[in-house]
Amino acid sequence: MKLAVIGTGYVGLVTGTCFAETGNQVVCVDIDERKVEKLNNGIIPIYEPGLDVLFNRNTAEGRLKFTTNLAEGIEGAEVIFLALPTPPGEDGSADLKYILKVSDDLGPLLKQYAVIVDKSTVPVGTAEKVWLHISRGAKIDFDVVSNPEFLREGVAVDDFMKPDRVVIGTKSDKAKAVLNKLYAPLVRQGNPVIFMDERSAEMTKYAANAFLAVKISFMNEIANLCEKAGANVDDIRRGIGTDSRIGKRFLFAGIGYGGSCFPKDVQALAKTAQEYDYDFKILKSVMDVNTKQKSKLLPIIKNHFDGDLKGKTIAVWGLAFKPYTDDIREAPALENIRALLKEGAKVTVYDPEAMDNVRNVLGNQINYAHTSYAALDDADALVIMTEWPLFRTPDFGKMNLLLKNKLIFDGRNVYELDQMKEVGYTYYSIGRET
Ligand code: UGA
Repeated sequence: MKLAVIGTGYVGLVTGTCFAETGNQVVCVDIDERKVEKLNNGIIPIYEPGLDVLFNRNTAEGRLKFTTNLAEGIEGAEVIFLALPTPPGEDGSADLKYILKVSDDLGPLLKQYAVIVDKSTVPVGTAEKVWLHISRGAKIDFDVVSNPEFLREGVAVDDFMKPDRVVIGTKSDKAKAVLNKLYAPLVRQGNPVIFMDERSAEMTKYAANAFLAVKISFMNEIANLCEKAGANVDDIRRGIGTDSRIGKRFLFAGIGYGGSCFPKDVQALAKTAQEYDYDFKILKSVMDVNTKQKSKLLPIIKNHFDGDLKGKTIAVWGLAFKPYTDDIREAPALENIRALLKEGAKVTVYDPEAMDNVRNVLGNQINYAHTSYAALDDADALVIMTEWPLFRTPDFGKMNLLLKNKLIFDGRNVYELDQMKEVGYTYYSIGRET
């Protein structure tokens, strides 16, 4: 099949590359000339494990191409994916300006029937708006479908190639047939393609992300209570996660969720509720709990140092909002580093992938270490912000030689309490005794 993907961000690039991998002819379109030039020169602008292999193979074999020219990009495409950003507007609602602009541009360019697919996370009613904007300029038949993407950064290729489910929102049988054919290679193991109307598909995406955010904030509150009540949140997680109605995943307490999706999507869903005059209480609490959780460690660190961090050197392991990504959007690490600097502390950081991105934001306000151990040199304490596997089994003997104190503040519960006692560290974590 001939496909076009408009927007080469995370979702667009993974969608384009993976559909090329299943044998389609894909042209990705982006207005960013520098980005397209890089992509045409084989440079992938994001870090995503496994993407490079697929990208290299499919560009080399001519199935994956990039252009800034929309008309050229959609030439002959049966399916046109819209994978454009939907940043939060000033009031928290998703801003549709990019999607609607492309919809306006697309109308007059369509030469034969095409299925236009919303892949971006968009509020209920967007498919109808997109349809209206395209129809103003279009002279031929087309369908607009909502097909939200559920991939996670860091495991995006796997999530795309082996989706738990594919959600397709359309009432058009013609569009259903086209997308069924396109997704067939990805659902061979029997994972369902679930058809519904456009509005329900749009809402499904928000409901999924918001529900996962509820799970996390709920566990963070249980953790906070555990600290007061003398219980261990990791045991609670194991104790409840084995109940198949609850499920094991997304029950990890920590210093809050970040990333480009949960914070934005929970806020946008709350805004949608407000627009429909519905008081969605849980969402408000989820956001409130997460905001508080992100700044949970600072008072603990300050308290340990008798309220004064001036002149103290703090090593920070982990900057990305989660492991296996270089993405620092809404990352708890940034907020915490800024707070440490404000308190007069010196900060030295290490992250396997996100250092360059942080350097662009914080510049020389902090020090950047070449290795995880180098970050510890002469530091008064270690703070862990992201649970990269590299941090899980460090050489404590080596750490003892570098750190001034055997002291760890762990925002991701990377170590077991017994293990910390054994190595003689003072260890603060989330939802467990100190
Ligand atoms: C999330 C969803 O998981 C994807 O299904 C969705 O497609 C994507 O948003 C999106 O809307 O595009 P992502 O933001 O890549 O994916 O990251 P997650 O793995 O969901 O993690 C989000 C945040 O929750 C991270 O900061 C992570 O540290 C935190 N988290 C996750 C916890 O604090 N505890 C957990 O148990 C799990």
